Amino acid sequence: MKMKKTIEIIYHELESKKDLELEEQKLLTFAEEAREKAYSPYSGFKVGAAVKLANGEVFTGNNQENSSFPAGICAERNALFAAKATFPEEIIELVIVTASGSEYVEENPVTPCGICRQVFSEYEHKQEKPFRVILASVKGRIFVYDSAYSLLPFSFYSTHLKK
Ligand code: THU
Repeated sequence: MKMKKTIEIIYHELESKKDLELEEQKLLTFAEEAREKAYSPYSGFKVGAAVKLANGEVFTGNNQENSSFPAGICAERNALFAAKATFPEEIIELVIVTASGSEYVEENPVTPCGICRQVFSEYEHKQEKPFRVILASVKGRIFVYDSAYSLLPFSFYSTHLKK
């Protein structure tokens, strides 16, 4: 028997920063500041991320590149790994990402790479609580996801490894 199934991905699109809550706007400012400090001489593409934990702590990260290209790492993982290295058991409430460096992302939010989505997915699964992801463009358009699941349905979990 063959069954057609569908999944629904819900996200919100905001016109500008002003449509974010005040706290989110502040957090976006932190992500923007981090973005400007990115080390991206090879791509010329700057990405900044901010992570807010349930205890109120905020961590930021940006992309760090290297002449040995695969050694580089994305902004999202730098921010998340810093947060989880310091507060391993704290719940992630919100991740904000912003990028600049191409006309496309000035108009449209950057959408995280697959490896970062996998990292989001594992932390969300582990904490058994969804966290919000906000993807912000420089010129205004913003996507808001209430759960990282929406960015990577059918992700790989460690439960798949167990017999
Ligand atoms: N990059 C990020 O930091 N986050 C993303 O979501 C997409 C890509 C970085 C990696 C690399 O330094 C540069 O952007 C170009 O891929």
